[in-house]
Amino acid sequence: MLHKNYSYKIAPIDNTIEGEISVSGAKNSILPIICASLLNDKHTKLYNVPNLNDVNILLKLLEYINVSNRYIVDKEILIIDGFQTNRIEIDIMSSYTREIRYSLLLIGALLGKGVKKIKINLPGGCDFSDRPYDIHLKGFEKMGCSIIQYPQYIDITVKKELRESEIELRFPSVGATENLILGACGVKGVTILNNIAIEPEIIDLINYLRKLNVKIDFISHRRLKIDSKFKKNLNINHRIIPDRIEAISWITLATLTSKKGILIKNIDISHLFAPLLELQKIGIYIEINQNKIFVKQTNYILNSSITSNVYPYLGTDYLPLFAVLLSNANNISTIKDNIYPKRFEYLDELSKMGLRYSQKDGLSTIQGETNYISNHVKATDLRGGFATLLAGIISKKETLIDNAYQIERGYANLIKKMNSIGITITKIDS
Ligand code: EPU
Repeated sequence: MLHKNYSYKIAPIDNTIEGEISVSGAKNSILPIICASLLNDKHTKLYNVPNLNDVNILLKLLEYINVSNRYIVDKEILIIDGFQTNRIEIDIMSSYTREIRYSLLLIGALLGKGVKKIKINLPGGCDFSDRPYDIHLKGFEKMGCSIIQYPQYIDITVKKELRESEIELRFPSVGATENLILGACGVKGVTILNNIAIEPEIIDLINYLRKLNVKIDFISHRRLKIDSKFKKNLNINHRIIPDRIEAISWITLATLTSKKGILIKNIDISHLFAPLLELQKIGIYIEINQNKIFVKQTNYILNSSITSNVYPYLGTDYLPLFAVLLSNANNISTIKDNIYPKRFEYLDELSKMGLRYSQKDGLSTIQGETNYISNHVKATDLRGGFATLLAGIISKKETLIDNAYQIERGYANLIKKMNSIGITITKIDS
């Protein structure tokens, strides 16, 4: 078990917040690509790898099935040794599966590798909502697996061979799309996936698989063809795309705190159209220069009504950040999460610090002009935790956030980056 019992103590800001921050590699890209590396008999060398708890847990799961790796943290390089196996049966009954949602993707990766029987402990991850995985499992059944779900684990058996199929996802789930792409690599023939998610992290996974010579093409919008004939013995180098949620997190922080401005580097603007448009609508001034963004404090934020939806629309993970921004707006705003309609527990924590909000039928109404006050609160989940952190930074006195582990699941080198722009956060055992 990795150490989880710590809190963040945030010192009141008494100095100018300014400087430069470089965005790390995307959490939601590195996790599927680590799973995809299992398809390779030779080594995979990944660059721009964020040092995150979720990454370290997934690497423990790789070690559990005897795949070794070297993670050179200060260089952000991860080398995963080739997975040379003829095993047709693999059990992953490690308790680490329950620490992350994406342990689920090991199913697709092992099926893609040709494993015929997998027993895996249930997945875990951010506990902000029901997070079913029926779309993943239905897809694998369509490919020719029989699946039994036990209270503690899932048992997957390939009946004969994985077969060619056309699979319609009932919803464009990010994880299910990735899992089924990985599984399709084990089919001798063609798989068509319909109604898939098209997040930049999925494109990053596809780009990695193409380097492994998987033939994988978009036939039309949200429709993908995977032809699994591929060489699986190639040494591959791949650079993880920048984390788009982290980028918007720093923009939000700069907007709320930095009179002199923060330069945010290592950004891919093409992934950020929807959140940048929303930021522009509420009056945030941003200077863009290729892969860098410069943002200063905005004193007058306009109220708005924002809704999350599947990419390319505004992602659910941005909403807690917008909640804090809009709580500083000139008037009442509303927020609706169409992806996780029940993900608003973090608003309760923010209300302990002065947020005034109400909730009805999945619509959160947020009052503007909030004066955040310090308190002892908790990080309910990763993004909600960052929202609490933002409120703590702008409140006038010392704030304590329990369960800070949740925040470090998705923000690499967070304390160091905060310190570099003048924000003091101390980690304390709780
Ligand atoms: N869903 C189902 N059945 C399924 C799969 C999903 O009903 O089999 C539903 C979910 O309950 C949810 C919606 O479909 O209502 C979308 O879920 P999705 O599968 O797309 O989410 P995910 O793959 O589990 C990834 C990110 C999340 C992000 C969501 C939505 C990773 C590692 N995680 O999760 O990231 O919120 O997509 O964009 O890629 C985060 O970074 O904080 C985070 C939670």
